[in-house]
Amino acid sequence: MNVSILTLFPNLYESFLKTSLVFRAHEKNIINSDLKSLFDFCLPKERVDGPTFGPGPGMLIKPEVVEKAIEFQDNKHGKSFKIFFSPQGKKLTQPLLKSLLPKILQTNHLLLFASRYEGIDERVEQYYADEVISLGDFILMGGDLPAMCFLESFLRLLPSVIGKTESVEHESFSGPFFDYPAYTEPVNWKCMEVPEVIRSGNHGLIEKFREEAAVKKTVKNNFEWIKNYPLTHDQKKIITKFIPGHYSVLMHGDILLKDKTVGTTSVTSLDIHDVARSSLTYGFKNYFIATPLFDQQQIVNTLIDFWKSDYGKDYNSHRFQAINSVILVNNLDEVVEEIEKKEGKKPILIVTSAKKHDSKKYITYFDQEKVWAEERPVLIIFGTGHGLAPHIIEKCDFILGPIGGFSDFNHLSVRAASSIVFDRWLGINPKY
Ligand SMILES: C[S@@+](CC[C@H](N)C(=O)[O-])C[C@H]1O[C@@H](n2cnc3c(N)ncnc32)[C@H](O)[C@@H]1O
Repeated sequence: MNVSILTLFPNLYESFLKTSLVFRAHEKNIINSDLKSLFDFCLPKERVDGPTFGPGPGMLIKPEVVEKAIEFQDNKHGKSFKIFFSPQGKKLTQPLLKSLLPKILQTNHLLLFASRYEGIDERVEQYYADEVISLGDFILMGGDLPAMCFLESFLRLLPSVIGKTESVEHESFSGPFFDYPAYTEPVNWKCMEVPEVIRSGNHGLIEKFREEAAVKKTVKNNFEWIKNYPLTHDQKKIITKFIPGHYSVLMHGDILLKDKTVGTTSVTSLDIHDVARSSLTYGFKNYFIATPLFDQQQIVNTLIDFWKSDYGKDYNSHRFQAINSVILVNNLDEVVEEIEKKEGKKPILIVTSAKKHDSKKYITYFDQEKVWAEERPVLIIFGTGHGLAPHIIEKCDFILGPIGGFSDFNHLSVRAASSIVFDRWLGINPKY
């Protein structure tokens, strides 16, 4: 395959193209790189760049120079698959690389365009680029490093370059989990020992250890990646081994009322079984309902008893399953005690709120790793009425901020809000 590289700085690529696997790919005739300076496509004394229209700094590479360079390369090697690099493009990921592989192989001519200065004229990208790729949410001085990164990661996908297809299949980002942790001699290094099982020679045990270690490390370091991946039943099962036990509670006591006093609210039947169903869907072990009022407790018990009765079970077995996870308590202290009894550790308390509080305890829906690092069960607390009483918010370890969209309306029902919170925290939302 021909690889055209168009750049203002060809010298940057010289050792890159002559080193390691990229060099081997040339030696084995898998690729033939054709490195071109954009200056070669300027007329004598012509500038390669021009100022941008309108106020604002910066120079852009001229469209005619890019045009000449691209047309020249396409005439020489056939119509290419053209990749431009920009921080505004699609993120370079393993799934993106894999999706581009057949398209690139089909043309047999890959063209990498590395821009500089403020970039290129918007129209050039629109006209030529088959794909615009970003290396990440940061600004480099030019597209040369992205072009090299793309080429290296692309070449790794060609079995003839790497040698062993197996090493590519197991690599991080080829599936939902990272590659397994690897070790070499010496067995003892800086008081850290290579796990005994790895040295046992028992292939079955080694494989199991590696799989679990890979899952554990991915959950710990990049849960977001896992959530973005379509998971099999078995993969979900193994992931849950490394996520601490989660619980939720709906508070009907210790609630802020309309007149700003602290009091109680009434239970509603929908908040019992609907939240129980959501909570179970996202793998929460129990859903607590906290109310100190005897008559309210009787209402909850009547409902729970109905769905647990033979008639209720028969009528809707899924609802029975959800209701079976509901525990009625008087207050938050009882929830904490119950969880501690089951898990042997006090839970981390995370409150949710529709309002913004003046607190340093805020976390985002991307902070699972931070919370789980404490290796304790997690309790997510939902309020009713006008929200949780200040003393409950003060007691918590973390606060999850208001959820919402682009409107100013901020009045979600707790049923809807809890489902969104569960989904953001422990929901799978496949992107790949
Ligand atoms: C200084 S940057 C221009 C940034 C542009 N003004 C912006 O804010 O989007 C110049 C060139 O560097 C390359 N570049 C910079 N950051 C990049 C990134 N994160 N991913 C891919 N290319 C990048 C692009 O080719 C870009 O046209």
